[in-house]
Amino acid sequence: MAASHRYDYVVLGSGMAGLTFALNVAEKGSVAVITKKNRAESNTNYAQGGIACVTSSEDTFDLHVRDTLEAGAGLCHEDVVRGIVEEGPARIKELIELGMSFSERENGDTRELDLGREGGHSKRRILHAKDVTGREIESALLTALALHPNVEMFENHAAIDLITRRKLGFTTDNRCVGVYVLDVATGVVKTVAAQHVLLATGGCGKVYLYTTNPSIATGDGVAMAYRAGVPVANMEFIQFHPTCLFHPKAQSFLISEAVRGEGGVLRNGAGTAFMDGVHPKKSLAPRDIVARAIDAEIKRSGAECVYLDITHQSRAFLQNRFPAIYAKCLECGIDMAVEPIPVVPAAHYQCGGVLTTPQGRTNLPGLWAVGEVGCTGLHGANRLASNSLLEALVVAHRAAEVVKQEKAPPKQKNIPPWESGQAQDPDELVVIYHNWREIRQLMWDYVGIVRTTKRLQRAASRLRSLSDEVQEYYWNYKMTCDLIELRNLVLVASLIVDCALSRHESRGLHFTLDYPKTDDHAPPSDTVLRPE
Ligand code: FAD
Ligand code: SIN
Repeated sequence: MAASHRYDYVVLGSGMAGLTFALNVAEKGSVAVITKKNRAESNTNYAQGGIACVTSSEDTFDLHVRDTLEAGAGLCHEDVVRGIVEEGPARIKELIELGMSFSERENGDTRELDLGREGGHSKRRILHAKDVTGREIESALLTALALHPNVEMFENHAAIDLITRRKLGFTTDNRCVGVYVLDVATGVVKTVAAQHVLLATGGCGKVYLYTTNPSIATGDGVAMAYRAGVPVANMEFIQFHPTCLFHPKAQSFLISEAVRGEGGVLRNGAGTAFMDGVHPKKSLAPRDIVARAIDAEIKRSGAECVYLDITHQSRAFLQNRFPAIYAKCLECGIDMAVEPIPVVPAAHYQCGGVLTTPQGRTNLPGLWAVGEVGCTGLHGANRLASNSLLEALVVAHRAAEVVKQEKAPPKQKNIPPWESGQAQDPDELVVIYHNWREIRQLMWDYVGIVRTTKRLQRAASRLRSLSDEVQEYYWNYKMTCDLIELRNLVLVASLIVDCALSRHESRGLHFTLDYPKTDDHAPPSDTVLRPE
């Protein structure tokens, strides 16, 4: 990519949301897909369980809607939920036509989709490719995209900031007109002008010390949008996945909820199935409830982890249904066919994000946000398992359809190049790494599964000084990907804390000892932060 370039559509991120959008708009104009690492590296690539979608004759849209609303603890927007759930089958059909192959099973003389089950679902409705669903999705979408002449892919390019007319000094017709992007290999910051920019940058798991997310998940999209004046919502609802493998060789490795869907039982060190007394769905209760119960069990017993026991299934079944999990456990010396798997909760999913319409439109013309980065109202206070890939697929398609029909906005001329400091003192790099670690540790300690106002206030105060330090560093030093991410992490951490502080109740994933009950007196409302 040249130092300055123009496209009709710029897509930031190459996960499910970005690639789906790119594929759908490519017929209409030039597309640049800009992605921070290699093209497949994304949360999507690590998805195990699958995509929730009503495909079985024993299932109904109403049941999927009901399960989603129940998990979302009163905060889902029901019209949005129904729309996404009902559009699922059409989008899944297109994905299969594109080359995605889901696991099947025999049913008499015919073959049918093998549907998995996960926490909070009343029916088997999860389409999956064994336990490597995300990898297969990425591969199918990237293969299809590679064939399109209108699409250019830029790997190892990290978006720094959105360019808006307001930031360029104009007072009228504010809109997003492009993005500044760091070419990580050369250190050059490029100016990319666009008629439409899609944020598909995923979530922010890396804001926490322990997470299931890969290193790309630093909340860049939320931070860029907020700096560009776009509201974000519901950031207090960070989902902790109950079962991350607990082993020194396996940081961030998920043990899919589908393992519990196949009968896996959570036990404590004494072998007690401690979820039995907690929720009627036991080990398959919604995630917020399971993660809190594990947290309580670990605190009560002083143990380092709990255990997931699926030893009632045969070795052949486990090898076939969960090949990646089986292999990873063996690599760590755990034979899941005969012994329980040690697990702990870890930060997994950002339920809130950039506030959008159900079509992914933000309140800044020219800017769209789809997938984990966005907040459409589908997930409410707690996402139902495997609804995120569904949302990314459906909303990316919708955004593409809307954008293709719109009259192209005028092209912004004379966008100035990026200006940054030139100082580069390797000794100071330690400041970046120290601040990274400090943010992630304090978020884990003070803004985790169980919160208190005092701890949140302590986190807010420390984040304010960290933010000042990072700002100073940011303007004086040469741009690097670590610096971009650090600046975004500190902002996103602050947004999570601010949202958490302003919710005076416990609801879904936000649980605070100072307000342990859900406030049933007023209608539930989203937490919206509007930048000044
Ligand atoms: P991602 O897939 O995360 O893609 C984000 C992209 O943006 C990446 O390409 C990244 O490199 C790029 N990017 C980020 N910042 C920048 C920047 N500054 N500049 C340029 N590029 C940038 N959900 C389900 O529904 N079912 C599951 O089974 C499931 N399993 C999961 C298992 C794991 C281990 C994890 C971590 C998540 C799982 N999820 C699952 C959640 C789901 O995978 C994600 O929510 C979903 O894939 C998000 O897709 P996305 O396209 O929005 O973002
Ligand atoms: C899993 O496989 O447990 C992850 C599913 C999800 O996060 O939706």
